[in-house]
Amino acid sequence: MQRIVLSLAAAISLLVIAAALFLVGFGPGERPAPQAALAIDGADIGGPFTLVDHTGATRDSAEVIDGPTLIYFGYTFCPDVCPIDSQIMAEAVDLLAEQGVEVTPVFVTVDPVRDTPTELGYYVEALHPDMVGLTGSEAEVKTAADAYKVYYSRVEVPESRAEYLMNHTAYTYLMMPDGIAALYRRGASAAELAADVARVLAEKGVTG
Ligand code: NI
Repeated sequence: MQRIVLSLAAAISLLVIAAALFLVGFGPGERPAPQAALAIDGADIGGPFTLVDHTGATRDSAEVIDGPTLIYFGYTFCPDVCPIDSQIMAEAVDLLAEQGVEVTPVFVTVDPVRDTPTELGYYVEALHPDMVGLTGSEAEVKTAADAYKVYYSRVEVPESRAEYLMNHTAYTYLMMPDGIAALYRRGASAAELAADVARVLAEKGVTG
């Protein structure tokens, strides 16, 4: 009996490992996913939100994510991380478009006090013509951030002109209308990000 229990435990372990490998996106004979892709393991990431876009229009999550969408949470006053990451996202979207794969880039602020639609407009329009900037009330932004498991907090910097900075998690989410498709941490180049997004979308039957 104990032997059967042990075998069962071993079988379950193998299944869990197989599922994990499947989720990070590689099976036998396939190239491993880039290091920046994180296993999502069926995690509950994403969910409904209603925010205001950079043109001042109210947009809910279903309207924003009406096809393959890359989403990043940050803030326009960010001195380094957000500008780099959103530039990479914009370049990846262009690389995908060259392959005929349409992906919408979305930048959601975690600093709605300063990131008004107008501020966001300057930011996203400088980065990509299709980029959507989203803001809202502090409560609306919190709802969206919580749904995406985004942590952020205000850090006072009294001696600086910025007055305060925001600490925040910096992941890039590949979303589909039916939920999350991939999660990327910082470190991938635009080419690596585009290649992995194309791979994940091809597995879902979305090709250029
Ligand atoms: Ni930032």
